[in-house]
Amino acid sequence: MFRFQEDKEKVIVGTCADNENAMGMIPQEIIDQILDRIDIVEVISGYIPVKKAGRNFKANCPFHDEKTPSFVISPDKQIYHCFGCSAGGNAIRFIMEYENTGFREAIEGLAARAGVKIPDDRKPGGEGASIASKLYDINKLAADFYHNYLRSDKGKRALDYLKKRGFNSETLSKFKVGFAPEAWDSLRKHCEGKKIPVELLRKAGLTILSEKGKGDYDRFRNRIIFPIFNERGHVVGFGGRVLDDSLPKYINTPETIIYSKSNVLYGLNFSKIGIREKSCAVIVEGYMDVVMPFQYDVTNLVATSGTALTPGQVSMLKKYTGTAVMVFDSDQAGESASLRGLDVLIEKGMNVKIATLPKGEDPDSFVRNNEPGAFYGVIDNAKGLFEYKLDVLIQRLGERNIGGIVDEMLPTITKVDNAVVQSDYLRRLAERLGVHEASLRHEMGKVKPDYSYHYETEEKPDKKSYNYKNSELHLLGLAVLDKKLFLRMREELAPGEFQDSSIKKIIDVVGELFDKGEDRINPGKLLSRFQQDEPAREALVKALAKAEITQDPGKALIDCIFCVRKENKEDKLKGLTLRLKKAQESSDDAEVKKLLVEINKLHKEKVV
Ligand code: CTP
Ligand code: MN
Repeated sequence: MFRFQEDKEKVIVGTCADNENAMGMIPQEIIDQILDRIDIVEVISGYIPVKKAGRNFKANCPFHDEKTPSFVISPDKQIYHCFGCSAGGNAIRFIMEYENTGFREAIEGLAARAGVKIPDDRKPGGEGASIASKLYDINKLAADFYHNYLRSDKGKRALDYLKKRGFNSETLSKFKVGFAPEAWDSLRKHCEGKKIPVELLRKAGLTILSEKGKGDYDRFRNRIIFPIFNERGHVVGFGGRVLDDSLPKYINTPETIIYSKSNVLYGLNFSKIGIREKSCAVIVEGYMDVVMPFQYDVTNLVATSGTALTPGQVSMLKKYTGTAVMVFDSDQAGESASLRGLDVLIEKGMNVKIATLPKGEDPDSFVRNNEPGAFYGVIDNAKGLFEYKLDVLIQRLGERNIGGIVDEMLPTITKVDNAVVQSDYLRRLAERLGVHEASLRHEMGKVKPDYSYHYETEEKPDKKSYNYKNSELHLLGLAVLDKKLFLRMREELAPGEFQDSSIKKIIDVVGELFDKGEDRINPGKLLSRFQQDEPAREALVKALAKAEITQDPGKALIDCIFCVRKENKEDKLKGLTLRLKKAQESSDDAEVKKLLVEINKLHKEKVV
């Protein structure tokens, strides 16, 4: 086991790996054991079709839309990398990304495959588990509690309400719909009986600390409960609906460690199969609009739970399909919020359509009031995004307001990635408005990308782009894969000659492993020693990908060493020249003289 000091105050233990919380740490030995026993090709091919290509395997990247495969899996290194979107990592990372799960869940699945037992002290809320995994357990316990209450004598009132609305028993069980008792402390007491600390209930958003100093009270009372599941089917939060017309109609779990509303799509755990099968995701608004259609065998829907669609949610869908149909109420059509959601979809390369329901209907009522299959009829008749948006704008702004319409349409058209489609849109817009296409093209040149609707979402950490020096990265990749090359590099370059701190850190870690007597490094395992969002992780994946496509590593290493030195020299020169300019400006003759000497000396130094 090794330790290293993070740049700042935080000490990261090598074993902490990708784990979200030190409390639930899985020992590095166990992680290593698991990664030793599984094969990344086998793991990934369980999710997507892969093809052999030389020593490696190729696939269409599941994390971005593409027609020619740029996703490479290396059985030797036990890592994957996409040359298109820069996704990359080991088997654990793949599962986390693909299934949108946390580290613990991903590793547990792999452990089961590998037949490795993870030392388990995870009782609900028990010692040793990470906070996140404790919250999953507590949420499951709460979901069971609410569901059982709905099924008990005391739940009759709620059960009658749900039956009156048309839900059958099977549906209620599948979605684990429940009922929260009216009392202020039912769930809290239930959990107290199971020795669950109230602080954890509060962290799960299930109780609220009373301002009057009377301890915690239950957040959900006298409400129908919809557990919100993540993609893998773990309960991450709840939505609670009143049984009458009182307000607010719904209350929901606030943001918690495991629940971020902008990164969950309600129903996706159930619908992911249907979405794949039908190559289409239907996006609706509410819990009821997912649950009821399911009962009528419409199985490819997800709900945004009343908020605007976020880029994170679109990324989740993209793993299953490239086509989305948004279902709007008829009176919702003109809302700019709903039009905005469409741009997010386009930008992520989704083929977007819009279906409009008859006045006064939502998907829940529509499936109840119509023949079976009618809902799919509505979906099949969905309008293309372009027509839809244009129709709405013309309706809203009036046909004459050409400037207004163009202003709204062009940013959308700019976001279309496919040049052919974009051109077609422009032609059609010109035709419809009776203007010259050339003038639209001219206007389009002025459109600035509009990212204002990204307000709610934080980009995933792996989307960060660091400006590593190519030569340093390449060198790192080569050195990690071959001990001889590593030792050569260390002879030639002192640690101080690397500029990037992540690269320095990886070299430290690798050096330590080699020095301890390892002869070969398993890059997949090496990756698991860095935190998920650590820049070093990204650097390592990029470095390995570069080394991957190197013909003659020995020669490349020497070239890289040369480049690193040369670049360092150039950087130093740049710095000195800058200082020289400043010194000249302030007429600091002594400084000018000194700098000129240094610059001359540096110029004469040969890089070998
Ligand atoms: N919503 C919410 N808080 C509210 C109102 C709505 O979080 N105060 C979210 C819920 O996820 C809800 C969705 O927005 O499911 C859509 O709202 P709405 O159409 O009003 O509710 P329905 O789900 O259709 O419920 P019902 O049919 O029972 O009215
Ligand atoms: Mn409704």
